[in-house]
Amino acid sequence: MKSILDYETVDYDRERHALVIIDQTKLPNDITLLSLTTAQEIWDAIYQLKVRGAPAIGVAAAFGLAALAQQISSQEKEIFLRELKEKKEFLNSARPTAVNLSWALDRMMSVCKKKKEASVTLLKNKLVEEAFLMKKEDIDVCRKIGEYGLRVLKPKDGILTHCNAGQLATCKYGTATAPIYLGQERGYQFRVYADETRPLLQGARLTAFELYSAGIDVTLLCDNMSASLMQQGAVQAVLVGCDRVAANGDTANKIGTSVVAAVAHHYQVPFYVCAPTSTIDFNTPTGKEIVIEQRNAEEVSKMWYQKPMTAEGVKIYNPAFDVTDHSLITGFITEQGIVKSPTGLLG
Ligand code: MRU
Repeated sequence: MKSILDYETVDYDRERHALVIIDQTKLPNDITLLSLTTAQEIWDAIYQLKVRGAPAIGVAAAFGLAALAQQISSQEKEIFLRELKEKKEFLNSARPTAVNLSWALDRMMSVCKKKKEASVTLLKNKLVEEAFLMKKEDIDVCRKIGEYGLRVLKPKDGILTHCNAGQLATCKYGTATAPIYLGQERGYQFRVYADETRPLLQGARLTAFELYSAGIDVTLLCDNMSASLMQQGAVQAVLVGCDRVAANGDTANKIGTSVVAAVAHHYQVPFYVCAPTSTIDFNTPTGKEIVIEQRNAEEVSKMWYQKPMTAEGVKIYNPAFDVTDHSLITGFITEQGIVKSPTGLLG
């Protein structure tokens, strides 16, 4: 039987010129593929977290823009570029925190800048090819993160992770899960602990699902249970993903990550951020400048319950991400190696 890992998180239908994704809001109960062709459908898919996770959002936006480019009818370069830019800006407005979204869309636009003399038809083809190249690069980057990550782990280690920085958040392997998948190939027998990750339950619905489907020893816990595990010595390392790393190393990731980092610091458990260099934003000096997405209150009060879980009118705080201070981070595991600070990647 086909497992969730046999599906492509993000793909492109070359015949229909459509972005193809797994609808992650339906996991783990239903595996539904969506084929998206309009700007509004693609924007909604990103905003509603049908496709989510920083690297997957980037590649989905790239395929999405490539699909939308095919629909521009004008053969006049100036008009084509103007319409493409409008579509790019619309997609870019779907979510603010993951830098991969703007990074991927800017890279797509730069294809047109590089090919100054190219016809509109040629540009349309180049955009599709660039998006496929980004997908391939994402797979290579994740595998390298896996290789470097294994250097700080030992067979039978307990690894705690938060949210989903797995295959479902990338094109393959994941970032925080890459060392786990590569370790499995080499018989490391890790024990993995997945935080459920309130309010949208990416840990329960996605991480536990994909690791369990892969035959990895995974245990699900509520977000308030990680201190108990660390106190017992069950966790040898924390591995998390990231949505934007500021130049000083402050890191935005799924809400709750900074709590895990503070607890890990207290119990002297190493806390690693698995970070493709595309998620490092040297234009943002510190975490204070990172824009944090605020989401709908109903995700907290109603979404998973048959009846509302709070009295009508209660104020609700629902930021999608928090910023972990760089002082709590043991290292950044990137495709270029492990560094203590992003500046270690410069020069
Ligand atoms: O809101 P989400 O589900 O897109 O948040 C995802 C995360 O916070 C991930 O940890 C991050 O994007 C890294 S994915 C490799």
